[in-house]
Amino acid sequence: MKDFISMVDADRLFIENIISLSSFLKEKQKKGELYRPLEGFTAALIFEKPSTRTRVSFEVGVYQLGGHGIYMDNRSSQLGRGEPIKDTARVLSRYVNLIVIRTFGQERVEELAKYSDVPVINALTDEEHPCQVLADIFTIWEYKRNLKGLKVAYVGDGNNMCNSWLIGAAYTGMKFYAATPKGFEPLIEYVEKAKEIAKDTGAEIVITNNPIEAVKEADIIYTDVWASMGQEDEAEKRKEIFMPYQVNRELVKHAKSDFLFMHCLPAHRGEEVTNEIIESDRSIVWDQAENRLHTQKALILKLVRKVNL
Ligand code: CP
Ligand code: NVA
Repeated sequence: MKDFISMVDADRLFIENIISLSSFLKEKQKKGELYRPLEGFTAALIFEKPSTRTRVSFEVGVYQLGGHGIYMDNRSSQLGRGEPIKDTARVLSRYVNLIVIRTFGQERVEELAKYSDVPVINALTDEEHPCQVLADIFTIWEYKRNLKGLKVAYVGDGNNMCNSWLIGAAYTGMKFYAATPKGFEPLIEYVEKAKEIAKDTGAEIVITNNPIEAVKEADIIYTDVWASMGQEDEAEKRKEIFMPYQVNRELVKHAKSDFLFMHCLPAHRGEEVTNEIIESDRSIVWDQAENRLHTQKALILKLVRKVNL
């Protein structure tokens, strides 16, 4: 495995490795122990969309491992002036050991990976957010020490988060119920792929338009923004359509009493989740955000050093 550009690139064993390596790295960092196996390592971090968590966790993670990350965006690089992604890939491969990219179409990441000699990591596209799902799964594992059979209710837009989660849940044998309004379901190719993987892992994959069906007896309730980056023009229209899918006091009554609330952030209080739920003692969103750092460090080590723990 050279690149991590889709959640499909992971599998059960890969995810288990990420969990154990992330635990190891997190423990070291909490003890204040330096662990710098990647001295002299460099990474290009290309962001064609905004970011807080992903950018900072990658920059800090690369630095903590002993390397150096170079942030690039469209305004300050030739990408914004139309330099082809395949040329960018070949040039950057001559300088750096890793390329991380957040962009629009998944095909842009695929093209970058095809022409790059160094590993490429998908830091979010319109179709996927696999790094977030690694952090989410690690976070759930920290709380539950188990993944198989847990019921995850994903409520809201069948977007990039939902697509990557379908695959992550399928590999780890979870019950994944996605409840979206009609017309906002996850992409069919991800649903089909998840169902195919589920045949081997015992996962359950259900797509519904009924949020209560999804949340019923759920261990985890997950939501994300209703209008993703690039869909700002649709935000007002979407608010009306999505309101029945808001994670609020009424909806969470259907979940297990010890349910955990998750959100990749940034959150829009009063839209996909109420302030009361995100600030409640069931919410683990800050651990989830923190774990971006640990799981991405693990991912980098696995890709560049082929580390297995
Ligand atoms: N969750 C996440 O990817 O956040 P950012 O957009 O801030 O990177
Ligand atoms: N679905 C959201 C995720 C943000 C981390 C977006 O693409 O904007």
